[in-house]
Amino acid sequence: MAKFVIKGGNQLNGKVKISGAKNSALKIMAASIMATGTTILKNVPAIDDVLTMAEVLNILGAEVNFNTAQNEIKINCNDIKAFEAPYELVRKMRASILVAGPLLSRFGEVKIAIPGGCNIGSRQIDLHLKGFELMGAENRLEHGYVYSRAISNSAKGLKRKLKGSEINLEFPSRGATENIMMAACLSSGKTIINNAAKEPEINDLANFLNKAGAKISGIGTDSLIIEGVEELKGCEYEIMPDSIETGTFIVAGALCGKKVEINDAIWDNMGIFCQKLKSMGVNLENKADKTIIVKKSKTALKPAYISTLPFPGFPTDLQPIVTVLLCTIPGISVVTENVFENRFMYADELNRMGANIKIDGHHAVITGVSKLSGAPVSATDLRAGAALVLAGLIADGTTEIYEIHHILRGYENFDKKLRNLGADIIKVS
Ligand code: EPZ
Repeated sequence: MAKFVIKGGNQLNGKVKISGAKNSALKIMAASIMATGTTILKNVPAIDDVLTMAEVLNILGAEVNFNTAQNEIKINCNDIKAFEAPYELVRKMRASILVAGPLLSRFGEVKIAIPGGCNIGSRQIDLHLKGFELMGAENRLEHGYVYSRAISNSAKGLKRKLKGSEINLEFPSRGATENIMMAACLSSGKTIINNAAKEPEINDLANFLNKAGAKISGIGTDSLIIEGVEELKGCEYEIMPDSIETGTFIVAGALCGKKVEINDAIWDNMGIFCQKLKSMGVNLENKADKTIIVKKSKTALKPAYISTLPFPGFPTDLQPIVTVLLCTIPGISVVTENVFENRFMYADELNRMGANIKIDGHHAVITGVSKLSGAPVSATDLRAGAALVLAGLIADGTTEIYEIHHILRGYENFDKKLRNLGADIIKVS
């Protein structure tokens, strides 16, 4: 079983380049289902989740070529014949359900496995399905699958097409915003999504769709307007840099950096995150040309109260990561998780390393400790795994991290990038 072995205590120094955003690449790959001809995506991270999405597209009948060395993927969906996202793949990666909107939009039907819960929460898809229904689809739940079908509108010559609608999301769900926005692209008429999610990855998806011929406006606001078009065409598009990987390296720099220069890092995509860290005393600088610099702080860092919220709020994906930093700051910090109900499973692992975290419902009360001590620990999910790696960098002695398949899903060359900065981390197979 592969694991990371880290000897803590090294100072980080140097430059690191951020990879393309996982949560943008996966959705744009799914969106390519709607395009005729070839879609060429650049800056695609070579991570396991991208390979899984490629597998999903293959199963549907798409031709996918991923040049991992060049981070370039070519997708041709002209010959798609199947409309099903099977359980094995949805189970492995929930983002597989993002093929539903594109398939429904292009072919008027889709069958997707209902994802079920995962290690961070119950994660329903009711908002996705409600959106499809308001656009004229009929959803049938059977044997663990949802069959969604656009009810034909042949009288108007609009057979098997969804129709535009106004959709008010109860919560600015990213997945629901993305699935509904994609479903609306080839529908008849205008769709308005109110209370839409505003994460930069959603803007990236909308910009890709517009480049392919869609008509989406209101990008970056909480009301997206989509005018249905007849056709989308394959195009070339460069995936934005990953803001969660950026935040991970910022925290690594704050924990044990002398001077860490993070390239391809977009400050404005970080929402309130950088501002919050600065208020804690982290020495952060936003330079021109997409560079963020983290330097060792001259003064002691301060504890903080942090609440996760949709963008531009503090990102839930960086909640486990920042908690590691709070563990090392004298005083009491409180982290409140508002997006997922079960995102503190890693706290017990950090406590095994000497941290002092008490969980009370969706709050974590963290009392700073003077040191963490290396221990064998297990990653419970992707970001929890990254948090444990960061803890290992500053812990006394050796930390062994098991279940690293979670980490490999979403971080490209994580160990190599840390090694280049001076960390003592190796991957053992
Ligand atoms: C996306 O998940 C990301 N995944 C997650 O990143 C991220 O943590 C999350 O957004 C929040 O920012 C991808 O982009 C692949 P949501 P998603 O729909 O779209 C509830 C990572 O580590 N909800 O915004 O699934 C839901 O249960 C991953 O990279 C419903 O109740 O998140 C949750 O409590 C982990 N009904 C909240 O909304 C629905 O129909 C936010 O979920 C949909 C969501």
